[in-house]
Amino acid sequence: MHKDRPVTQFLIGAAPGRRPGLRAWMWLLGAVILCVPVLASAAPGDKPAAPQAAAQAQPAAPADFVGAETCANCHEEVAKGFANNPHTKLALEHGNTGVTCESCHGAGGAHVEAGGDATKIFNPAKASAKEVDSKCLGCHAGAHPNFLRSPHAKANVSCTGCHSVHASQTPEHLLKASQPTLCYQCHNDVKPAFDMPFHHRVNEGLIKCADCHDPHGTFQGKMLRSTADQNAICVTCHTEKAGPFVYEHPVIKTEGCTSCHTPHGSQNPRLLTVSNLNTLCLQCHSAINAVAFPHAVSPSGPAHSQMSTEVACTNCHTQIHGSNASEVFFK
Ligand code: HEC
Ligand code: HEC
Ligand code: HEC
Ligand code: HEC
Ligand code: HEC
Ligand code: HEC
Ligand code: HEC
Ligand code: HEC
Ligand code: HEC
Ligand code: HEC
Repeated sequence: MHKDRPVTQFLIGAAPGRRPGLRAWMWLLGAVILCVPVLASAAPGDKPAAPQAAAQAQPAAPADFVGAETCANCHEEVAKGFANNPHTKLALEHGNTGVTCESCHGAGGAHVEAGGDATKIFNPAKASAKEVDSKCLGCHAGAHPNFLRSPHAKANVSCTGCHSVHASQTPEHLLKASQPTLCYQCHNDVKPAFDMPFHHRVNEGLIKCADCHDPHGTFQGKMLRSTADQNAICVTCHTEKAGPFVYEHPVIKTEGCTSCHTPHGSQNPRLLTVSNLNTLCLQCHSAINAVAFPHAVSPSGPAHSQMSTEVACTNCHTQIHGSNASEVFFK
């Protein structure tokens, strides 16, 4: 999307020291005239706001902004590469008077005047994580309101820990590397789980880390995403496990899917946490564990008299996630 958009924009400022006020107004006038076709197609309410918004958008004096074309004079390679960047969209803001380079690097007047003095321009690569985050969140806080209290932000992993504005390796989302490689760069410890005999096929590209986690932070532990009704993220894909059922297996709701399944990978079929399924059930359904789950009755009666670990509980209790027909989860 937004491919091949030229890095065009209209300069709001003027050459330093030469009646910037008048020049600025002439530019704005020119911009309004040139923008007539654009404005005509925009929503009617946008029209009168455009020139004012351009002036209000930047706290620095308009004269301090030199515009992307000036930057391109000296940073040709960067500017060329920027033509396909989603951020070129910024140039279209405020009736085509938006700024691109300087939206992130700040007003460049002083930097240019000094012939490219590196100390006079904001370089995110040399800034602290907090400075970078606040710069990016200036525009992206709406989409990522939880970032600052995420474990990533707290560990000083900033936006540029995962995104690269000028040298991204992915066509989508300006990522430094595609998933899961990106995540493994720092979370090598979770990689072995995805190499286990039974695993969610993340390495194979079937699903992504970010399907279950939002690296920008969430209200759940481990930055897990959740469904709109706060159910476990798992049921967005495994919808049939969501219920509601006439006869619920209450643990599904109270303890969550991960009380019986490992989310990443497992040595055991069905991603179960234990190799012996009956052991799993008897963790709760036995007198010994009555303390933690006083309601989980021990199996009794003739059906269980011959019971041994060779017969899986789910041979009979097949609808283990809940049933509309049987209170003991038969078919
Ligand atoms: C007159 C030429 C010139 C123009 C115009 C210019 N730059 Fe630079 N810029 C330079 C030079 C030269 C350097 C390298 C300075 C160094 O490495 O010491 C530089 C370095 C930078 C850096 C890196 C600073 C650092 O800390 O290493 C950034 C970011 C930058 N420019 C952004 C911009 C932006 C944005 C614009 C437009 C607003 C711009 N430049 C316009 C010449 C220019
Ligand atoms: C969305 C924010 C953003 C915009 C817009 C942007 N940059 Fe950058 N720029 C960055 C970040 C972040 C870095 C630090 C390196 C990185 O993470 O890619 C950077 C680094 C640089 C550097 C230093 C390169 C280096 O290797 O340290 C230059 C020069 C530069 N930008 C020029 C520009 C120019 C010219 C434009 C407009 C065509 C521009 N930038 C637009 C965010 C931005
Ligand atoms: C730990 C890695 C990581 C960090 C840190 C991070 N991101 Fe992302 N970001 C991603 C990944 C991965 C995606 C792609 C999500 C997907 O595949 O659905 C993404 C997607 C995005 C998107 C596009 C899609 C969307 O969800 O809106 C934006 C915009 C974005 N990030 C901005 C930011 C900003 C701004 C910051 C800093 C405040 C930031 N990101 C920090 C990994 C990260
Ligand atoms: C002045 C506002 C502004 C600033 C500052 C800004 N962005 Fe953006 N960003 C945008 C706009 C506008 C888009 C294009 C959104 C679209 O296409 O819908 C965008 C797009 C993106 C995307 C691509 C989204 C996608 O779905 O592919 C990422 C990733 C992103 N920005 C990250 C960053 C990072 C990291 C920073 C800080 C270095 C930053 N942005 C700073 C306004 C901004
Ligand atoms: C630049 C390094 C880096 C990258 C890249 C990165 N992370 Fe992280 N991540 C961290 C650090 C540091 C922490 C906080 C310390 C910790 O808990 O391990 C963290 C924490 C987490 C946590 C919370 C762990 C917990 O115990 O609460 C999750 C989940 C997570 N990251 C997932 C991801 C995903 C998914 C990706 C890829 C989209 C990713 N990370 C990319 C460094 C990174
Ligand atoms: C199917 C959903 C799902 C996918 C896909 C997924 N995770 Fe997780 N992840 C979880 C859940 C659920 C937890 C919490 C486990 C717990 O609390 O017992 C978790 C926990 C974590 C943790 C915290 C440490 C730990 O091991 O408990 C990290 C880090 C993490 N995941 C990283 C990743 C990375 C990196 C990827 C991609 C390579 C990924 N996850 C893919 C669901 C998923
Ligand atoms: C993004 C979609 C998605 C999410 C979210 C998701 N899964 Fe899966 N899950 C799949 C797919 C697709 C498969 C089939 C795997 C395959 O064929 O490799 C699968 C397979 C499974 C299996 C094994 C099924 C079998 O027949 O062996 C279990 C168990 C499972 N998921 C549990 C979970 C749990 C628990 C969660 C939440 C932590 C979860 N899933 C989240 C997509 C998802
Ligand atoms: C009380 C333990 C338990 C809980 C909690 C649990 N499961 Fe299961 N799940 C099982 C068992 C046991 C099997 C294997 C059944 C079999 O082999 O017949 C299974 C199988 C599966 C399968 C693969 C076979 C199938 O029926 O499609 C998926 C997918 C699955 N569970 C998803 C989930 C999801 C999603 C959640 C949370 C909403 C969840 N499970 C919660 C015990 C549990
Ligand atoms: C984490 C604890 C836990 C695990 C593991 C667990 N259950 Fe349950 N189970 C419960 C609780 C609590 C109830 C609800 C009892 C009640 O409220 O009457 C229940 C109810 C049941 C019922 C209905 C009994 C009744 O009295 O209506 C059956 C049948 C059942 N579980 C079978 C199983 C099987 C088979 C497994 C293994 C696949 C299993 N459970 C794993 C806690 C657990
Ligand atoms: C051969 C089939 C079969 C197997 C295998 C089986 N059950 Fe049952 N289970 C039943 C039947 C039939 C009932 C219903 C008894 C009734 O209604 O009186 C039942 C009822 C239950 C109940 C409800 C309380 C009760 O005793 O009536 C629980 C809890 C239970 N089973 C757990 C388990 C567990 C845990 C396992 C595995 C260790 C298991 N069952 C294996 C057939 C089986």
